[in-house]
Amino acid sequence: MTRVASEQYRAKIKSAEDAARLIKNGMNIGFSGFTGSGYPKAVPQALAAQIKEAHDRGEQFQVGVFTGASTAPELDGALAAVDGIKIRMPYQSDPDMRGKINSGVSQYVDAHLSHSGPQVWAGHYGKLDLAVIELTAITEDGRGIPSSSVGNNVSWMAAADAIILEVNHWQSEGLEGMHDIWDGVALPPNRIPIPITSAGQRIGKTYYDLDFSKVIAVVESDSPDRNTPFKPLDDESRKIAGYYLDFLANEVKQGRLPENLLPLQSGVGNIANAVLSGLLEGPFENLTSYTEVIQDGMVDLIDAGKLVAASATAFSLSPDYATQMNDNAAEYAKTIILRQQDISNHPEPIRRLGVLACNGLIEADIYGNVNSTHIMGSRMQNGIGGSGDFTRNAHISAFVTPSTAKGGQISAIVPMVSHHDHTEHDVHVIITEQGLADIRGLAPIKRAKLIIDKCAHPDYREILHDYFDRSVATANSHHTPHILREAHDFHIRFLETGTMLP
Ligand code: COA
Repeated sequence: MTRVASEQYRAKIKSAEDAARLIKNGMNIGFSGFTGSGYPKAVPQALAAQIKEAHDRGEQFQVGVFTGASTAPELDGALAAVDGIKIRMPYQSDPDMRGKINSGVSQYVDAHLSHSGPQVWAGHYGKLDLAVIELTAITEDGRGIPSSSVGNNVSWMAAADAIILEVNHWQSEGLEGMHDIWDGVALPPNRIPIPITSAGQRIGKTYYDLDFSKVIAVVESDSPDRNTPFKPLDDESRKIAGYYLDFLANEVKQGRLPENLLPLQSGVGNIANAVLSGLLEGPFENLTSYTEVIQDGMVDLIDAGKLVAASATAFSLSPDYATQMNDNAAEYAKTIILRQQDISNHPEPIRRLGVLACNGLIEADIYGNVNSTHIMGSRMQNGIGGSGDFTRNAHISAFVTPSTAKGGQISAIVPMVSHHDHTEHDVHVIITEQGLADIRGLAPIKRAKLIIDKCAHPDYREILHDYFDRSVATANSHHTPHILREAHDFHIRFLETGTMLP
């Protein structure tokens, strides 16, 4: 049975191939999709096939690809594999996409997630020719029922000249009612206050108002979201999660946090999931979250009655949990709210609610600057995602990482980060499996000692202390002492010898 209940819209149904034929070389396209959920599956693959045919004929065919965040093999993977992406924005994590960015085939702009939609809408990237948006259904009166992510869809549909809608039968009809689409989003000077004063507050509608005059095709599909399984929790992740949870418990004991904490934001990945698992066993009740993605651990917390409100923009679930969500979406909609990403990640509610942010990093330096995106200064890993949106505006900003990478050849704590995403001004707590450094209220030279002693791997502590001591003795200031000629020796050594160890 069709999910396109509106007769008017049914008249626009086309095959994915016919819809993709409407896309031309050089177009800028805003796709739905966020952390592997709610992205169109059929049209991008059909487009990739047409790009390949064009390239085989010796014709140029590349498009600009804007999304909510990372997508999946059917979108980023398929288009990257045929060298079909001219420019990509924002966060991505597909290995083929990453490869094309780092080899120079595709340009990449690593915008903050909360900025990405409004910036395109405002014309910073030129004209947006097309939006390709996945929906769960189109109602009889022409409303669009969102699917498993909201992301930048409202901005894309507002900004684009034309819209292709992909109605995915795999998405649960029970999702209807979970979304909160706020009409108040506007460009300056017409912005108004976002009236969110608690994580679980609804301020909008549960559907998209679709502009029928812009819709050039409706495509029906039936394919699952990517839903990557999480690796089983290892001892390292559990240890890191344990330090963070002890820290939060102590904040409550000291009277600096309420007993049910403040709304939690949790980055993607295994350590984040370990934190959520730890909360399941921990003492905290009536928790809330104001975050970007709903992960497996949050579903468990909801089931256990510990998480009473969860605000995000998308799911990032393993296959089993995605099935559980699809089967019980209407029930979960009582606790979960999916918002536009320029609201889920907006500095205003994050600061107002006093969010507790916790994200992964690639490396931190002895003074607390954090690199979340670049390997050895030049190579893009994924992108800044929402980590900047949350870190800069949270009540407490924590970062978590193993103390080493690549079998111990790389230290996550370095004298000076090789790329800056989050500066010392925004970072409050750094945690590795070695321990936790609470650097709030400390001057740089106090932070350095704490970060080296609490977070660095023992194999690297002595050389970090040596660098710091010689910096203090020789630098032109005692405030943030560095030896500029040596500040990146760890990275240079790794690039030349395969290890940061001397
Ligand atoms: N130098 C070189 N490589 C490093 C490294 C370092 N200092 N630290 C980690 N890596 C490598 C790992 O070896 C691994 O490589 P592999 O895929 O080849 O095995 C890869 O980077 C990912 O590291 P991992 O330890 O598995 O961490 P993760 O999955 O927790 O990801 C980030 C860590 C920083 C990459 C990830 O959190 C991220 O992309 N953050 C930015 C966006 C963000 O924070 N989003 C959430 C905000 S809401």
